[in-house]
Amino acid sequence: MSGTAVGVDFAVAERPEPAMAEPRAESPTVVMARNHMSTLPAHPTLPVAPGTPWINDPYAHALRTGRGPLFLRRLSHPDRPDGFGEEHVLPLDVERWCAPPDAADTSVLRRCTGSVLDVGCGPGRMVAALAASGVPALGVDLSGDAVKRTRRSGGAAVQRSAFDRLPGEGRWGTVLLMDGNIGIGGDPVALLRRLGELIAPGGLLLAEAAPLDVDERLTVRVEDSHGHHGRPFPWARLGTAALLNAADSAGWILTGRWTADGRPFVELRRRRANHPGAQSPIIERPHYS
Ligand SMILES: C[S@@+](CC[C@H](N)C(=O)[O-])C[C@H]1O[C@@H](n2cnc3c(N)ncnc32)[C@H](O)[C@@H]1O
Repeated sequence: MSGTAVGVDFAVAERPEPAMAEPRAESPTVVMARNHMSTLPAHPTLPVAPGTPWINDPYAHALRTGRGPLFLRRLSHPDRPDGFGEEHVLPLDVERWCAPPDAADTSVLRRCTGSVLDVGCGPGRMVAALAASGVPALGVDLSGDAVKRTRRSGGAAVQRSAFDRLPGEGRWGTVLLMDGNIGIGGDPVALLRRLGELIAPGGLLLAEAAPLDVDERLTVRVEDSHGHHGRPFPWARLGTAALLNAADSAGWILTGRWTADGRPFVELRRRRANHPGAQSPIIERPHYS
């Protein structure tokens, strides 16, 4: 399958299944998922074995059905439970990701300018909404099921890593990093540097932070309520302060911040190389409406 975004043809490479995610505070879905946690088998500290084949792929299954419960299980730092609870699992908001954009998502969509790249688009609610509004948008995700679901809902998406070669590098008006995707790859500064290569001069990065004051690098895996799980992968959780520190290290400046429905967001722009601290010009392009 192929498509066009920002005037660039892209072909979809098929890949093996991926890894993924992060949630929000206490939505009804999350509360329901928490109630399921008592049924989870006890896992004390599990050995981390990167590269272990998937026993099952609970993330793909959840995307196919549009339903959880699904969890992120912490395999590292078991002594620091921040937000993961004593069981070291964090419920993932699959139902919200598979639903149309909510009010907080819409507050992000309204800030998008120009063509939009959604990094770690998941089932693609943001990309589909932008496409329906006539804004050129592309999702990128490791998960084949995420890409399929995005396309089914009317959005364009490619199955790739954010660190792979991508369509329109250096020309995206806005890059989105939603739902804890600052954790992708487990090295936020490296991720933010990479996103700086994708964005057009004067373009925006709209990123969601964790609702807690956390700054963690950890190893996790996705798990369902039956204990089926994917392979371990590196992840990170950053509250707003930590995200801004990482952004500064990666050459971004803060140009806006807001909270919607308890979810903190920041708007960042590239710092110009010859004028550290200076804001890049804002480009006027079509907006989501
Ligand atoms: C928090 S979940 C998705 C939430 C998503 N924003 C949504 O609207 O549903 C994180 C996503 O990032 C994807 N992902 C993980 N590592 C990635 C990478 N290196 N490049 C692209 N996507 C990645 C996962 O497959 C997963 O779909």
